[in-house]
Amino acid sequence: MRTMKAVRIHGYGNREVLSYEDTLRPEVGADEVLVRVAGTSVNPFDWAARNGYVTAYYQYTFPHILGLDVSGRVEAVGPEVKGFSIGDEVYGRAHPTRNGAYAEYISIPAAQVAHKPRSLDLMQAAAVPHVAITAWRAMIDTAAVAAGQTVLIHGAAGGVGSAAVQLAKWRGAQVIGTGSAYNLDFMRSIGADEVIDYNSTRFEQVVRDVDVVLDLVGDMGDNTLQRSWQVIKPGGMLASLVQFPSPEDAAAHGVQGSFVSSDVCDTQTLTEIGELIDRGQLRSIVSTVLPLAKVHQAHEQSENRHVRGKIVLQVNGH
Ligand SMILES: NC(=O)c1ccc[n+]([C@@H]2O[C@H](COP(=O)([O-])OP(=O)(O)OC[C@H]3O[C@@H](n4cnc5c(N)ncnc54)[C@H](OP(=O)(O)O)[C@@H]3O)[C@@H](O)[C@H]2O)c1
Repeated sequence: MRTMKAVRIHGYGNREVLSYEDTLRPEVGADEVLVRVAGTSVNPFDWAARNGYVTAYYQYTFPHILGLDVSGRVEAVGPEVKGFSIGDEVYGRAHPTRNGAYAEYISIPAAQVAHKPRSLDLMQAAAVPHVAITAWRAMIDTAAVAAGQTVLIHGAAGGVGSAAVQLAKWRGAQVIGTGSAYNLDFMRSIGADEVIDYNSTRFEQVVRDVDVVLDLVGDMGDNTLQRSWQVIKPGGMLASLVQFPSPEDAAAHGVQGSFVSSDVCDTQTLTEIGELIDRGQLRSIVSTVLPLAKVHQAHEQSENRHVRGKIVLQVNGH
């Protein structure tokens, strides 16, 4: 049996439970591709899962390999798989309940990967899938953002936020982004028309009549969701990725409230995202690249909640 390095957890807990260790390489399933991982990236989901915060939705059998995002090269192809060959460079997102990509190899359903965008290297590609799929579910599938609309994005400098700003601009919307002073120029550089420093300005004092609010912060961050209702025009939408908007509050303000789930990742959406990237309409934002063995440091940075774009974990010496 061949072994590989992986970051596994043997139970829920703080960063101490992250263990960089040897384990067996996965076998490829009939509908799967075995990928030699080049990069993965850190999403807040990873440390939420590690802490045991998501057990109401996902149960793990231990030991469990974390990591949703993957980029790498196809090493083996299951007998039922069409459209992928050994040697193809792919990117994709593992389902949260499966063993993930903090590892030298992952076996993943072919339906959850696509060919990597040609214009990205494998590190840049590792930063894309989860945040771009999530932003797509929010901006395109849920809010159906259209030309002429105005969208307010809370947390616009983070992983999902930076993808959402760019998708909303691609759809022709006016975009207002919130972030700290450190990120104001960055948010403008990815397309935000207006930017608000949440430490110095109450957004509800300067924003009104937006069509859509995308909430990536929630009420844990200074009541951001609750304060958002008043800035939405009647018939507009509040889409949150972090908590369920109250139906009573939505009705009282004459707007729609939606919780957005990013559970479904599919080849078709990843391919469309890749085409946008190759046409220069969506950028991969990587702020830091660390080797997989430095996963403790990567989680610490992400848990501080001020990452710009993404932290990528480099695997297999790529
Ligand atoms: N429902 C789902 O399926 C789903 C999917 C993906 C993500 N999520 C959730 O969505 C949230 C965002 O995810 P992410 O990957 O984008 O996280 P992230 O990359 O860690 O977001 C970090 C960003 O948040 C900004 N931020 C922190 N506090 C803020 C505040 N009070 N107002 C505005 N911006 C603030 C920071 O900007 P500054 O440094 O400038 O403060 C930083 O750039 C997370 O809670 C995640 O768990 C949910």
